[in-house]
Amino acid sequence: MIMVTVEELQEALKELEDVKKGLKGKAKKAPAKTVKKALPIKPMPRVLKWEDIFSKQEADTGVPGTEIMVMHHPQGKVLQEYSYTAKSTPVRIVIVKPPTEYTPIYDMHLPTVGEGTRIIMDEVREEITSKVGVGLQEVLDIKAGGRVDDRYRKSAEKRFKDYLPKLDEKTEALLLDLMLNDMLGLGKMEFLLSDDSLEEIVVNNSVEPIWVYHKMHGWLKTNLKVRDEKQVYEYADGIARRAERQINTLNPLMDAHLTTGERSNATLFPISSKGNTMTVRKFAREPWSIVDFMDNGTVSPGIAAFIWMGMQYEMNILVSGGTASGKTSLLNAMTPFLPPNHRIISIEDTKELRLPNYLHWVPLVTRQPNPEGKGGVTMLDLMVNSLRMRPDRIIVGEIRRHNEAEVLFEAMHTGHSVYATLHANTAEEVRRRLITPPLDISETLLESLHMVLVQFRHRRLGIRRTLEFAEVLPTSEGTISFRTLFRWRPTEDAFMMVKDSIRVMPEIQLFSGLSDRELKDELGNKQKILEWLLKNNVRRTDDIGLVIGRYYTSPDEIVNAAKAGKKPEAVV
Ligand SMILES: Nc1ncnc2c1ncn2[C@@H]1O[C@H](COP(=O)(O)OP(=O)(O)O)[C@@H](O)[C@H]1O
Ligand SMILES: [Mg+2]
Repeated sequence: MIMVTVEELQEALKELEDVKKGLKGKAKKAPAKTVKKALPIKPMPRVLKWEDIFSKQEADTGVPGTEIMVMHHPQGKVLQEYSYTAKSTPVRIVIVKPPTEYTPIYDMHLPTVGEGTRIIMDEVREEITSKVGVGLQEVLDIKAGGRVDDRYRKSAEKRFKDYLPKLDEKTEALLLDLMLNDMLGLGKMEFLLSDDSLEEIVVNNSVEPIWVYHKMHGWLKTNLKVRDEKQVYEYADGIARRAERQINTLNPLMDAHLTTGERSNATLFPISSKGNTMTVRKFAREPWSIVDFMDNGTVSPGIAAFIWMGMQYEMNILVSGGTASGKTSLLNAMTPFLPPNHRIISIEDTKELRLPNYLHWVPLVTRQPNPEGKGGVTMLDLMVNSLRMRPDRIIVGEIRRHNEAEVLFEAMHTGHSVYATLHANTAEEVRRRLITPPLDISETLLESLHMVLVQFRHRRLGIRRTLEFAEVLPTSEGTISFRTLFRWRPTEDAFMMVKDSIRVMPEIQLFSGLSDRELKDELGNKQKILEWLLKNNVRRTDDIGLVIGRYYTSPDEIVNAAKAGKKPEAVV
């Protein structure tokens, strides 16, 4: 049977009534046969379309799923309006500033499901939970995760087909998404995760609406609200279990990453006294690339070329900056400069790095101990272990503790190339932080470090820039100083080359045997290639890597192509 919208349902009922009436009326006069003929045989339903399932007018009540409520669409001045697709769901966002509110509202509009379809969805959902019969444990088991999603999807698909045999593919995919988001995911928060304009999604408790940090507008209140504290906890718990972490009264703080790469933190009441919280740091689906950063002004092609030189010739580099200044993103964007024939080991607390596919890369991630205090794997364990894995390059997500810092600098000292991030606002602060507690390492070790990049986030303008790029100079007293090579000028929003390199370039020269002239040419060529990639809009890290990989095997070919302004696709 097909029941789609209330209207169709009512229509069908009415027809049935008519038939019954007719039956009564005709039964006396006519034989059964003719009655049968009078029964309206509904034509086979045409292929159901989007419009049949979703009414165009949107209403608060029509959005399926109750875990996160959609509140009234506010009225006010529209600041921005855009649409995107989350898996199969079309989502429309209107950012409005109602006169009575202090912050603009991020107003999400979702397709509305007709009453009839909703009944079917509820039924299918109930059936498959009882039939597929996965235990809760299995749903939350990380290894079973994919399998369970699949099993749910398959049986839901089948049931939908039974109920709505003529459902078109697009609509079916959408219904499945809506249902699976609610059953296995973060409900409507999944739609927020798909909005590339958002950097952060936070739940402060179940009383306030969900807040988001928008790339253009900063903090915004949404029209979404999690139903109750228990539900906030359940989302956090789901994430924790999938990442083999824990969150409960004994461990009320949790840091983990979602299977899709987002980083998530949660705290429980009464530690967070207004309620259970969640903070989801979004991970751009496509990681930022060095071309993106040249394009949005984070770095100049000159700086990027210098970084490339440093990466190629195995210099040790630290990316520093404040919270969310873009340290990890820059570190990640630098990785295509690594030669494809080098073995790279990365070590992180939460998995954020995503290196290009073609690199020889082994990512390692720490693990917290279980409640009995067993099974924990620390950053230090991984660093010590990584040294036994014959790495050429070691990437460390963030230096936080003394032991790690010590091992890291020892690794540099023993000839490994190391890249890491560190929380510090200036180059000088990098030095101070490294030699004072908690990191507290001997300043003599610091001379193994070659370069420091300082990232900076201008909160008011919402921009990020490489504030300074300095090389590290060892002094005869066993201390270090910095020589700033590039600096960002806020007044012109431009990068100035401040000084010539007196350590890194000479060291590269020694390393490579290139003459002064050749070295300058090489730096210039790299800058040309990068400008060429920018001009031709080669943005994806994998594509950039392809060009750089080719450069490593046949530099002249790439340099000439860049100089001649050929199409990059024609070369690689
Ligand atoms: N140069 C940049 N331009 C614009 N957005 C950026 C830039 N670098 C990072 N971001 C965004 O800023 C947020 C924080 O970036 P991240 O690299 O994780 O910062 P950090 O490691 O300093 O905490 C992310 O949402 C990221 O997409
Ligand atoms: Mg970071």
